[in-house]
Amino acid sequence: MLNKKVLILCQSIHHGNTMKIAKVIGEQLNAEIKKPSEIKSINKYDIIGFGSGIYDDKHHKSIFNFIDKLSKQNRKKAFIFSTSGVPIKILGKKFFLNYTKKCTNFLEKELTAKGFKVIGNLSLPGFNTNVFLKYIGGINKNRPNEKDLTKAKEFAIKIKDSF
Ligand SMILES: Cc1cc2nc3c(=O)[nH]c(=O)nc-3n(C[C@H](O)[C@H](O)[C@H](O)COP(=O)(O)O)c2cc1C
Repeated sequence: MLNKKVLILCQSIHHGNTMKIAKVIGEQLNAEIKKPSEIKSINKYDIIGFGSGIYDDKHHKSIFNFIDKLSKQNRKKAFIFSTSGVPIKILGKKFFLNYTKKCTNFLEKELTAKGFKVIGNLSLPGFNTNVFLKYIGGINKNRPNEKDLTKAKEFAIKIKDSF
């Protein structure tokens, strides 16, 4: 991945869960990590990563708003990542993967329609204390954990190798 400039756009507002993932990926790809509101133009970047927690079954709206405002891209490479608060231990890995695939599809479609080439996506569990969950101490405690961060590292290495 010689001389590729990578930008990671990350909105991580609930517990900083997704930012933990962004940092691991960013380290591998030598990427700049910014919030969507901090970036005016993506022209100088070769690859853009888009990440946030999942809110009402989708990535955060600031990510969608950012993409909305972009001009049509010419197959610029993009990857997607998220953390999600569905209880993976209770519902199981298969449910988690199916659910997060559905969530990620919204963003993937949006990016593809904008002319991006989506080269990978990663969904991991994140600590969730939304509404009543805070009264029971939250779910997905301590997620993302070390294993999750290792998955993020492996994901980033794959992205790097695809160049
Ligand atoms: C207002 C709100 C809505 C949420 N909606 C969902 C949801 O629809 N599906 C889900 O899996 N998790 C949902 N969550 C949990 C977050 O996706 C999860 O905690 C995520 O790891 C937060 O990432 P962040 O700390 O990077 O913001 C929601 C959390 C909040 C605060």
